[in-house]
Amino acid sequence: MRICVVGTGYVGLVTGTCLAELGNNVVCVDADTEKIDTLQKGMMPIYEPGLEEIVHRNVKEERLSFTTSIAEGVDAADIIFIAVGTPPKEDGEADLSFVEQVARDIALNMKSYKIIVEKSTVPVETGEWVAHTIKINNKNKVEFDVVSNPEFLREGTAIHDTMNPERIVIGTNSARAEKIMRELYKPFNAPLIVTDIKSAEIIKHASNAFLAMKISFINAISRICELTGADVVKIAEGMGYDSRIGKAFLNAGCGFGGFCFPKDLEAFIKISEKLGYDFELLRAVKKINEEQKKLMAKKIKDALWIIKGKTIGILGLAFKPNTDDMRFAPSIDIIKQLQTEGARIKVFDPVAMERAERHRLLEDVEFCKNAYAVAMDSDCLVILTEWNEFKELDLLRIKEAMKNPVIIDGRNIYDSAAMKEMGIVYRFSSM
Ligand code: UDX
Repeated sequence: MRICVVGTGYVGLVTGTCLAELGNNVVCVDADTEKIDTLQKGMMPIYEPGLEEIVHRNVKEERLSFTTSIAEGVDAADIIFIAVGTPPKEDGEADLSFVEQVARDIALNMKSYKIIVEKSTVPVETGEWVAHTIKINNKNKVEFDVVSNPEFLREGTAIHDTMNPERIVIGTNSARAEKIMRELYKPFNAPLIVTDIKSAEIIKHASNAFLAMKISFINAISRICELTGADVVKIAEGMGYDSRIGKAFLNAGCGFGGFCFPKDLEAFIKISEKLGYDFELLRAVKKINEEQKKLMAKKIKDALWIIKGKTIGILGLAFKPNTDDMRFAPSIDIIKQLQTEGARIKVFDPVAMERAERHRLLEDVEFCKNAYAVAMDSDCLVILTEWNEFKELDLLRIKEAMKNPVIIDGRNIYDSAAMKEMGIVYRFSSM
């Protein structure tokens, strides 16, 4: 099929690439000339395992191309995916101005029947606004349909998630569009949920909110553990075997980050508020997550007494492993809190440091070449991302390098009994 994807962020670039990998002809459009330049040169604007190889293959086999011209993209496609950003506004509401702009540009360039697909996460009723925007700008009265087809990929495993979806959601009121979308997704062999546009839009927000709720739930349990001496890791394991609960998303720690959970949660709370419903449960999910970050700083303070003048080593900047993304990463808030109290900060992250330095995401920190360099003369080491290489550190070497062997673990990656045996003061989610 002939496809155009507008927006080459995580969702757009991965979706376009994977659809090309399935044999479709895909044109990816972005207004950012630098980004398109980078892609045309064969370089990736984001770090995502496996992406570069598939992009190269599909470009070489002429199924995938990049352009800044939306007219070219619209012309070359029957299905147009809108995958532009929906960043949060000051009050938490999603900023849909990019979506509106793209809908208008599509309308102005349509010459034959098009399916316009909302891929970005958007508030319920956005589909109606997209259809309205296209209608008023559709001077040639070209036929079109709007479809909501939310994306569920996770950063770090984006290619795998896209190529092996657990479900595909299609929201549409058009039988013609439904038939074409079913055809497009046939090779995935995944359960297909076909519904109206509004329900499809809510499926995405409800799914992210539910997952965030699971994390905040286990983080709340970890607070009870701290007060009683119980072990949150074992509790999560004991709960997770119940198939109604499931093991996933029950890792307690310094809280969730990333560009989706915090933003989508906030947006869903706002949408509900606008519709006249106070989604108290989600406000609590958000509050617990905020508290987890403050709790990390408190644990460090409790272990060091005075923060001012101390050297604190941070292991992990990305909001989770296998990505260089630091958007809404707990590391940013926690480092700021520690700096406000007068700490000197050393950091290491296997992948995210380059972006952090290039985009000046952190002020006044010392970037180190590895975890051992961070540990050298530190008063405390703080784990904020569970990269595999941190799980395999020589902890005795770390202990020797430190001024004071204190490790505060925001991701529960070490065995507390083994740490005690080594003489390391160790605090994790239950302590
Ligand atoms: C999420 C959704 O999982 C995905 O379906 C959606 O399309 C986009 O948002 P992503 O943001 O890439 O994906 O990361 P995810 O793996 O879900 O983790 C989000 C945050 O939650 C990370 O900061 C992670 O460390 C944290 N987390 C996750 C926990 O703190 N505990 C857990 O048990 C799981």
